[in-house]
Order: sequence, then structure tokens, then C-alpha cells
Amino acid sequence: MKWKILLSDIAFDEQEQEAVAKVIRSKWLSLGPVTEEFEHAICEMLGCKYAVATSSGTAALHLALLAAGVKPGCDVLVPALTFVATVNAILYCQATPIFCDITDLLEPTISPEDVRCKVSTLADKSEKTAAIMPVHYAGFPCRMAALEEALTPRVSKGSKATDRKITIIEDAAHAPGARAPDGRALGTIGAAGALSFFANKNLVTGEGGMLVTNNSDIAQTARLLRSHGITSGTWERQVKGFSDYDMTMLGFNYRPSELASAIGLVQVKKLAENNARRKTLFLLYQRLLSNIDEVQIPFTTGSDFGTPAYHIMPILLSDELTRNRVSLRLQQAGIQTSHHYRLAHQFTYYRTQLPGPPQSLPISEDYSRRQLTLPLHPLLHEEDIEWIVREITEALKQS
Ligand SMILES: Cc1ncc(COP(=O)(O)O)c(C=O)c1O
Repeated sequence: MKWKILLSDIAFDEQEQEAVAKVIRSKWLSLGPVTEEFEHAICEMLGCKYAVATSSGTAALHLALLAAGVKPGCDVLVPALTFVATVNAILYCQATPIFCDITDLLEPTISPEDVRCKVSTLADKSEKTAAIMPVHYAGFPCRMAALEEALTPRVSKGSKATDRKITIIEDAAHAPGARAPDGRALGTIGAAGALSFFANKNLVTGEGGMLVTNNSDIAQTARLLRSHGITSGTWERQVKGFSDYDMTMLGFNYRPSELASAIGLVQVKKLAENNARRKTLFLLYQRLLSNIDEVQIPFTTGSDFGTPAYHIMPILLSDELTRNRVSLRLQQAGIQTSHHYRLAHQFTYYRTQLPGPPQSLPISEDYSRRQLTLPLHPLLHEEDIEWIVREITEALKQS
């Protein structure tokens, strides 16, 4: 399909090309100094102490869970409205995902109320609940303060759950550079967070991710697990003269390449400007779509969402049929759209493999049926958005 307007696109120029060429000329392509520099740049941008670059956002999520102590049999609360990677990272740890609903159609992030309710139900049943993975959907912050409050056990003394510790691991794949209303950078609020640098993200390296944390134990464990659990890598042996290494835990090969990190270093410098451009375009969509009664835009309730990253442009239509009709009309016009997301608890694999009866998450289900994602990226022009909105208006007239 030859699209006239892409769902996402990348603001690359000769700087990324030169950065990659420089790494090629250096002939050091695997984990090394450029990755270290990229990690420092992310720490500086987010104001956190440690960053561990990985081969993907999924790898960063997996390492964050393991390093934070999530073990086989633990329960991990997670919104069903997310990409499967969030849930898969839980399953890689042989832990059990407990799907939670979203707050509201116009605030489609994990509901602190549902979290409070599920934590107390689980508290009665077991002592296993170990973690929660809020997803900063579309680059907008979850209600972190309310979640922190909801996770504080409110049970009577002597109950099993009084000293239960529920660790927060943030999925900040959509949210590099975003901040909560209180100014904390998304990804750095919980025990650890994960960013993704996949090709359609706000900060792109092709494939890549980053675990961010202020906890030195988590950072140290994640660093070990990233490279097979061995105590020194090829680069350290070359520059620091180590001749031997030990293996102290069972790890993985989750290392990024220097080529990816070189792109990342250029992209970090462009992030603020690119996120600002996304915001301008989001606000234009909001202004133009506000004239159409059948369209609602999440996160435009007037609540304080801090400084979002505006990763995607979700809209809601009045029902599933209307959503499909609008999507088809845009597709026929050459405008690429998407759906964020089909709900995790409805996928065949999770439905058939996870324990327990089928779950009902009414707000997420209503949201997912009516949701459509419109193009949003820094290379879009104002006229593109005006055209997209005209096409939506025409599609709705056909009802
Ligand atoms: C919400 C969310 N979590 C996790 C990931 C996984 O990131 P990656 O593709 O870098 O492994 C993605 C990527 O699309 C995502 O959208």
C-alpha cells in the first residue's frame, strides 16, 4: 500500500547518518563507549541516576521486572489496554498478569480505583502480589500519585497484606521526555521504568530500549542480566585489560549495538523539539475535531496531564461500526490509521493460557471498540491534518 500520509515517520537527517558512519569507521560495533554516552544523555534528560541501554523496550521491561525481584508465581497488575510486550515481559518471569481496567474513556490509563480493588481482593487470597506496570498510554501520564496511594495497604493489623510491598515498574515506551503533573519524569517515578526506541517511537534507534532507575541495586543487576550475567564484557576487557570474567547469574543477550546508540544520541538532542511539534499538531487536531459531535479525544478533559509526549493521536467514535467506516474512508484516501489496542485479555494466547475465568473490563472494552489512531509525527504539515479531519467529516456524513 502506498500511503499519502503515514501513521508515523522519523525526523532523521545527516546527523544520524554521520553518527552511524563514525561508529562504522571506529570498527567498534557492539556495546561500548557510544552506548555509555547514550545512557548518560538519557539520565541527564530524565534527571535519574542510572540508565541501562538494551536491545529493545521489551528487554528493558523484562530486566526491570527481574531486577526488581519479580519471581515465578508473583502477581503483576497491568492494564489490558497495552501492547502485548508489556504482558509478555511478565510471562517471561513466569509471573501472572492481573488485567486492570482504565479510568475512563477520556482517561484511558490504568484505573487507580480498579487497582485498589484488585489489590485488596488479591490481598485476601495470597501474599504474592509483587508489582504493577502502569503504561503511560499515548505518552500521557498515568495517575501516579493516586496509584502510589492505592498501593498503600489499607488492611487491618495482623492481616497478611500489612507489609506487602508492591513495586511499580513503569512502561514508558510511549513517553520519553514526558513528565507527571508534579514534574517527575515518566519512567523514573517507580522502582524502574522502560523506554522503547522502536522505529515508530518518539525517540528512534530502530530497535532499542532503556531501563531507567534511581536504585543502584536494580541498575547493577540489570547490567549483569543484560549480558549473560557475566562480570565484564568484551569492551571492558579490551580497554580495561581484564583477562577473565565470572558468571554470577543466568542472564541474556539484551545488549544494544553501538550503531543504534549513535542514532539514539542524536535523537535525544532532538526529542524536546519533536515532542513540541507533536503537541502543536495534537492541539490542531483537537481544535478541528471539536466541531464534530461524533468524535471524542482522550486526555482533553481539562485535567492536568503534566507534560505529555504526544506519542499517538487516539480518537473515539460513537460506536464500532462508525469507527470502522471512518477507518475505511481514511484508508481509501491513502491515510494510514491504526488501533491502540486490541485488548490483551482478549487475545487467544492469554485467554487460553492464563488461569481464571474470562475477565470483564467494561471501560477498556468500550474504549477499544470505538478507538481509532490518526497519524501523528513531527513531519506532518498543518494541511495534512486539515485534510484528515475533512475526510473524517465526509465519512461521518455517509451514515
Ligand atoms: C506500550 C509498549 N510497551 C512496550 C513496547 C515494547 O517495546 P519494543 O518494541 O522496543 O520491544 C512497546 C512497543 O511498541 C509499547 O508500545
